[in-house]
Amino acid sequence: MDSIRIRGGRPLKGTIPISGAKNAALPLMTASLLTDGTLTLANLPHLVDITTMANLLMSHGVALHMNGGGKGGRVLELRAREITNTTAHYDLVRKMRASILVLGPILAREGQARVSLPGGCAIGARPVDLHLKALEQMGATIAIDGGYVEARVDGRLKGAHLVFPQVTVTGTENILMAATLADGETIIDNAAREPEVTDLANCLLAMGAEIEGVGTPRLVVRGKESLHGASHSVLPDRIEAGSYAVAAAITRGRLLLQHADASQMSALTKVLAAAGAEITVRDDGLLVDAENREIRGVDVMTEPHPGFPTDMQAQVMALFATARGAAMVTETIFENRFMHVPELKRMGADINIHNGSAIVRGVARLSGAPVMATDLRASMSLVLAGLAAEGETVVNRVYHLDRGYERLEQKLAACGAAIERLRD
Ligand code: EPZ
Repeated sequence: MDSIRIRGGRPLKGTIPISGAKNAALPLMTASLLTDGTLTLANLPHLVDITTMANLLMSHGVALHMNGGGKGGRVLELRAREITNTTAHYDLVRKMRASILVLGPILAREGQARVSLPGGCAIGARPVDLHLKALEQMGATIAIDGGYVEARVDGRLKGAHLVFPQVTVTGTENILMAATLADGETIIDNAAREPEVTDLANCLLAMGAEIEGVGTPRLVVRGKESLHGASHSVLPDRIEAGSYAVAAAITRGRLLLQHADASQMSALTKVLAAAGAEITVRDDGLLVDAENREIRGVDVMTEPHPGFPTDMQAQVMALFATARGAAMVTETIFENRFMHVPELKRMGADINIHNGSAIVRGVARLSGAPVMATDLRASMSLVLAGLAAEGETVVNRVYHLDRGYERLEQKLAACGAAIERLRD
């Protein structure tokens, strides 16, 4: 299995181009199941999760055509002229939980869907009960059989007034897509407001859906008998941009995050500014400058958007491990998202966990070590710690990083990092 070797201690300087957002691209790809027309998605990131989703969609009969590649973001054409298979098999779903996003569209279009139930994962139990309850309220009959969700509806799904008791990102996306083809009006209250949900809603509007309240906690959808093809460009990845913003801060460097959309990152930029980095919003992206600056600990609590994203919690924890003073980092979204802490401690970090909070006391210098993480963002926090640490860090289980960070080593090396992939 590949690993990544980093020799730390070099301030990063330069420009990092930000790719299209993984967590926007995945639901956007599944939106192709809602129409027999062609959905063209530009600025698609080159990631393992995108390939996994492409394979899943092909198994349902979606024809895919990829144009371009390399640096500029790829353009993918998806056409589900017919859905040839309504079952999402375990061997594909187990690779990626976002596979559950095929459930709403296939059920809405075909009146039936059978999707392997995603299991728990490294960051928490992550049930999908809220997706299923909402579909039941829309008239679906749901059974769990042999590890599969079996959903059926006579005729079309029916519009309903749904209130999510807890904000769920993919839950909102699944139901939003299903509601575009339902009979009548669906109101989704306490909808997720993450930019990726808004990106999906904008694409659905371009496909002919009728949606009000985009970007607010109340989405009102008037269902249509059919949608049509459209073209849409995937929004820039705010978590990739945020991770590299932390790379600038943790190495006391200066990075321009090209194409980053600062308007979607204000919870993070406020924290970085309070920590002592200088943040400048420019037409071409976001400039993060921590050269010759002192970085201080800042308390952070994860919340649904527009609050501080859970997907940035591990990365800022690495930053605060090297900061002056203490920081309390509280995780409220997932019950088990501190798996990076023991690994950071192996690099010399001073962190204590009390229930859902971690007290991080900054140390003068982390020291490089062999480390491994159990999920994508935790792996990134170890890369960041390695960039700042004295000596050599080897991050194992690189497949996590390949799921969500496009050309990670190349992007960092171009800004002066001593980083290389060790192939097995
Ligand atoms: C999305 O996961 C993201 N994934 C995650 O990104 C992200 O961490 C998360 O939202 C929170 O922002 C994609 O967009 C593909 P949730 P999702 O449903 O939708 C509970 C990354 O690193 N819940 O918003 O699965 C759940 O257990 C990742 O890129 C239920 O109890 O998250 C969690 O505690 C990992 N029942 C909370 O809600 C449900 O039916 C929020 O989860 C659904 C969720």
